[in-house]
Amino acid sequence: MRFHYRCSDCGREYHTEGLMYQCPECSKDNDGTHFPKGNLIVELEEDVLRAAAAKSHVTPDDFYPYPSDDKDAYPVGVTPLMRPRRIQERLSLPNLSFKLDTQLVSGSFKDRASYEVALQAKALGENRIVLASTGNAGAAASAVGAAMGLDIILFVPASAPINKLMQSVLYGAKVVPVKGSYDDAFALSIEYTKRHGGINRNTAYNPMTIEGKKSISIELFEQMGRKAPDAIYVPVGDGCIIAGVAKGFSDLEKAGLIERMPRLIACQSESSDAITRAIRDDDTRAVHATTRADSISVDLPANGRMAASYVKQSRGWAVTVSDEEILSSQLTLTKLAGVLAEPAAACAYASLEKDRDHAASELGKDAEIVVLLTGTGFKDMKAFDGRVTIPPAIENSAEALESLPF
Ligand SMILES: Cc1ncc(COP(=O)(O)O)c(C=O)c1O
Repeated sequence: MRFHYRCSDCGREYHTEGLMYQCPECSKDNDGTHFPKGNLIVELEEDVLRAAAAKSHVTPDDFYPYPSDDKDAYPVGVTPLMRPRRIQERLSLPNLSFKLDTQLVSGSFKDRASYEVALQAKALGENRIVLASTGNAGAAASAVGAAMGLDIILFVPASAPINKLMQSVLYGAKVVPVKGSYDDAFALSIEYTKRHGGINRNTAYNPMTIEGKKSISIELFEQMGRKAPDAIYVPVGDGCIIAGVAKGFSDLEKAGLIERMPRLIACQSESSDAITRAIRDDDTRAVHATTRADSISVDLPANGRMAASYVKQSRGWAVTVSDEEILSSQLTLTKLAGVLAEPAAACAYASLEKDRDHAASELGKDAEIVVLLTGTGFKDMKAFDGRVTIPPAIENSAEALESLPF
């Protein structure tokens, strides 16, 4: 066996490589008012970690529970690590980097989780994957499904940005827009799987989503010269990405390749701040999320408990920013770094801007800080409505050039 499951709440172990979602004991009292209990952690067996530790260069394949034998069929990395010089100067943080997951095949970080769930489906001989998504996970699952010949059934809030919905339709998924919130789509997709089968890929509900997301940490470890950065700013909605980042570093730590986890900084919108409340005040109740940053708009975070616990273990903290700060950060990123990021991704940068002095005093101004830019802005150009205008056309004549103010 390469792995077993452990409940993140009670610690019970489940020794199977088959399909498991949540700890049957801890999840039975989940009632939708507080963050769900019973999410499972995949624990790699000692010999898998030992084999990784012996290698002079590791890749996510060394740490995946279901190994990938044809990774070029849908490549999920390595994404670029950018040194944004003008932003480094603006913030006086000379060792700041951006991890550009805007570059993944479907345009967001969600390729990482979708790929691992596709490997799970292949390994278990299942052809159907069911999920709910705010848009990006659905697009990613649909793209991986197209490349690997899997049937994707996708529940999305009808209000998701049109380009994200269109992407999934184009990739050939069976798309079911729901007249309700993301949380409603989440519950419906689980009910669908109970009634009609298939593997449910809902974020954190299926522990393999966290395993897929940890690939970013294995990449970062090698990109940074076989060490961990000092801190990572991560945009947070359900708390699955930040748990994936933590899990990757935790596996590296268990393999003896790093000494300790980087500080994890949870970045949220003030108008979708459930996990921040859990980190700061142990408050695990649902909120009413209204942020414009649709990918991190979550009432009841599916992985809230695990995310808050990993942030605290890493001696990290939470930062919240206003939607106005998020949207203006999108423009800073385009104008000073040449990066077009969606609002959720820009939330991570907006949080670093706001937190800059605190970060410099806590970590030192030479600290290696990484901001995860998790999704491309091309999917949601409407976010720029009213903030940029395309100039009027000029006559096609040399004289018209004289009327230009530059
Ligand atoms: C681009 C982007 N960034 C950040 C997030 C937040 O990830 P999580 O919900 O796992 O916290 C998402 C989730 O959909 C996303 O699509």
